[in-house]
Amino acid sequence: MIPRDLAIFVAAAALGWACTPDADTGLDTTSETDTVADVEAASPLMERARVLFETVPAVPPELEGNPMTAVKVELGKKLYFEPRLSQSWLISCNTCHNLGLGGVDLMETSIGHGWQAGPRNAPTVLNSVYNLAQFWDGRAADLMEQAQGPVQAAVEMSSTPERTVATLKSIPDYVVMFGEAFPGEADPVTFANMARAIEAFEATLITPNSPFDRYLDGDDAALTEDENAGLALFMDSGCTACHGGILLGGSSYQRFGAVRNPGAELLPPEDRGRFNVTGNPNDEFAFKVPVLRNVELTAPYFHTGKVWELGESVAVMGEAQLGKDFTVEEVGKITSFLASLTGDQPEVDYPVLPVHTADTPQPDPWVGLGAGTH
Ligand code: HEC
Ligand code: HEC
Repeated sequence: MIPRDLAIFVAAAALGWACTPDADTGLDTTSETDTVADVEAASPLMERARVLFETVPAVPPELEGNPMTAVKVELGKKLYFEPRLSQSWLISCNTCHNLGLGGVDLMETSIGHGWQAGPRNAPTVLNSVYNLAQFWDGRAADLMEQAQGPVQAAVEMSSTPERTVATLKSIPDYVVMFGEAFPGEADPVTFANMARAIEAFEATLITPNSPFDRYLDGDDAALTEDENAGLALFMDSGCTACHGGILLGGSSYQRFGAVRNPGAELLPPEDRGRFNVTGNPNDEFAFKVPVLRNVELTAPYFHTGKVWELGESVAVMGEAQLGKDFTVEEVGKITSFLASLTGDQPEVDYPVLPVHTADTPQPDPWVGLGAGTH
């Protein structure tokens, strides 16, 4: 526990946030001296849990090669909510990763430009900074690389880097903000810098202080009896082989149907998952293990979005991944435990976006409809 706290402290100090709540991000980034973590485990169950899981830190991590200044985070927030990054002027990142809805769109698979359906369910952006890579198949290494995809994807925002840069350069307030966020650069308004700013904002979208985090920090009363029993079942059944760490997921690729094939509705043969990225036959039907943080908020479930009830997804997991048929009671307990993973949602003040000009490329909601993915 001590190294983690130290890391948080160092990160907070490096960000200059150790004592200053950040009005810009709307997040309270005041660092608290986390003494509870040093509290001795109240039970053997807590002791075991502390080995397998980690709490969500109270302050965002540092990003490699992308210093998180307050001005950059603020710019990234505006861009996250900016529908004019889309060809139609209707779709922003927040359309599909709605921060009022746990960072998802509550659709089976996302709907983007021209009401086109995308091929997969939208994962949450909350805590996504801790993923080993981005997307269900991990095809983007980090959030900076990821953010360039949806803007260009025909079924999502359907724009181009050229159109995006022309849009941003036509809006004087954005030119000023990019200059401040990327000081010393001759031409700061670039597609890559747009992605860097969005990444910096996304890194602030973390959800600490869930009942389960308080439990890990030593508060035995933070979980109800059912949640406690669910945690024990979650660990004893072997869910933790894939769902551990900070996110209870997001750290490996695993075959869906490791033990029993869940059937074509949940695992349609045309989406071969990680195999599409690596070409390695061992990766067929492997997907990035989804994070279970805030999972209660992020229905429907699985990459197909075919399951709406969290309990049903638990039952599917038992059968498909572990070859276990849980009783209704066991499913209920595990589901209760999963609900204890809902943390403090980031409070984001809706940003006022700068006014466009006569030079801004105008919305084009109808043309350019075609197939494609990001
Ligand atoms: C039309 C809906 C849509 C829009 C708009 C959209 N996304 Fe996504 N996003 C998705 C879907 C669907 C996926 C999963 C695709 C896949 O894995 O193949 C995804 C994946 C992601 C992921 C990966 C999360 C993970 O756990 O792997 C991040 C991060 C993300 N989007 C951020 C963004 C940002 C930033 C924007 C704006 C620049 C954006 N998205 C715009 C639908 C959308
Ligand atoms: C062998 C690895 C593995 C094990 C063991 C495992 N899971 Fe999963 N879990 C996955 C993968 C992979 C997915 C994504 C499947 C897909 O949609 O392609 C997933 C998806 C989920 C989801 C859906 C999340 C979402 O947002 O879509 C839940 C809930 C879940 N698992 C809970 C559990 C529980 C509870 C257990 C134990 C009973 C468990 N898992 C065991 C690998 C595993």
